[in-house]
Amino acid sequence: VVRFGALAPTTEPVLDLACGRGRHTRWFLQRGYRVVAVDRDLTGIADLSDEPRLEAVEADLEASAPAHRGGPVGTAPEVLARRYGAVVVTNYLYRPILDPLVTALVPGGLFVYETFARGHERLGRPTNPDFLLEPGELLRLVRGRLRVLAFEDVTVDEPRPALVQRIAAMRAT
Ligand SMILES: C[S@@+](CC[C@H](N)C(=O)[O-])C[C@H]1O[C@@H](n2cnc3c(N)ncnc32)[C@H](O)[C@@H]1O
Repeated sequence: VVRFGALAPTTEPVLDLACGRGRHTRWFLQRGYRVVAVDRDLTGIADLSDEPRLEAVEADLEASAPAHRGGPVGTAPEVLARRYGAVVVTNYLYRPILDPLVTALVPGGLFVYETFARGHERLGRPTNPDFLLEPGELLRLVRGRLRVLAFEDVTVDEPRPALVQRIAAMRAT
């Protein structure tokens, strides 16, 4: 995210999907971007509630119905139907929304995705194959649609040993 994030155009907001405590939301906000941060639990970014360039959307990305937890209106499909200058997803995988995430990019838009890959189950959680990328899966997702800037399928040591797959790719202008 840090290596490629600044390539994102500023014309549309950045989508930080499954934002958690918002480490990437914060990175983009600090650089002047508008951010749409989505999670089923927004408590991790509650301290950003006064941030005018942030739209925090509470939604269950794996349900078709809207979340009713007092958060701003916005079902997952509605958020995915918009257009973004960048889509950033880390440490989260729900395969049915992978395709719409690529479609959501404007021309010149940046796609950054990193999460656990097959083989990680030998190191720790997650072990469920639903949450582990298959070899080359992110490459197949963007093939013919985005230009690949970087792709890795590697073991990392920090913050804990993990097998991850990660991609940075861009839609043609
Ligand atoms: C491991 S954290 C990753 C957070 C952040 N992307 C990062 O890397 O720092 C996974 C996040 O996915 C969110 N999440 C899990 N299932 C979800 C769902 N069905 N809908 C929306 N968010 C979900 C969790 O609430 C959590 O914040």
